[in-house]
Amino acid sequence: MENKKNTNIRWQETKIKRKDREKLLKQKGVVLWFTGLSGSGKSTVASMLEGELHKEGYITYLLDGDNLRYGLNSDLGFTRLDRSENIRRVSEVAKLFVDAGVITITTFISPFKNDRNNVRKLLGEDFIEVYVDCPIEECEKRDPKGIYKRARSGNIKNFTGIDSPYEIPENPEMTIKTYEITKEQCVKEIMDYLGKNKIIGE
Ligand code: ADX
Repeated sequence: MENKKNTNIRWQETKIKRKDREKLLKQKGVVLWFTGLSGSGKSTVASMLEGELHKEGYITYLLDGDNLRYGLNSDLGFTRLDRSENIRRVSEVAKLFVDAGVITITTFISPFKNDRNNVRKLLGEDFIEVYVDCPIEECEKRDPKGIYKRARSGNIKNFTGIDSPYEIPENPEMTIKTYEITKEQCVKEIMDYLGKNKIIGE
């Protein structure tokens, strides 16, 4: 436990612990960390997955990249430093959700390996990296927000895949290829993974 700016603090133990909440909820807290290009299908698949889990009686929460930039991260842009801070804050929030016993799904481009590795370090075995794999040509064709068009015409700086890099995950727990299989199949693959790894279905 480290706080560089304030040494006059002390970690406060809580009476009710994570395992107590997990027992009550009959589930395990975990983070499904979706990473991939804008337009790769992160939000779409995550939202469908959340629907499926909810239907089966699990408590979930979806931390969405665009949405968090309206509030908690509204002071951040898209420089490398700002993206790192974006991911750092989100990982801390995700950690709290895991402690609450919630199946947490995050959808952030999170383009930098180093940032994602820091999340892995912070969350340990509760971190499940899901690489949402889709070639940029396909993302650009889909362009649901018209954002690639704007980036290509020079109206958006540091755009991931155009003038800012996306570093492909080396050892993600899962890769889902949204350009090869349907959204429904993607959700099924993730549900199967969760079942096999005893995260759900106990
Ligand atoms: S991250 O790189 O810091 O992880 P995050 O997932 O929060 O990004 O936000 C990405 C979303 O912001 C995209 O879906 C897109 O709608 C929007 N956006 C705006 N500017 C950029 C940019 N320069 N690069 C990527 N996405 C951008």
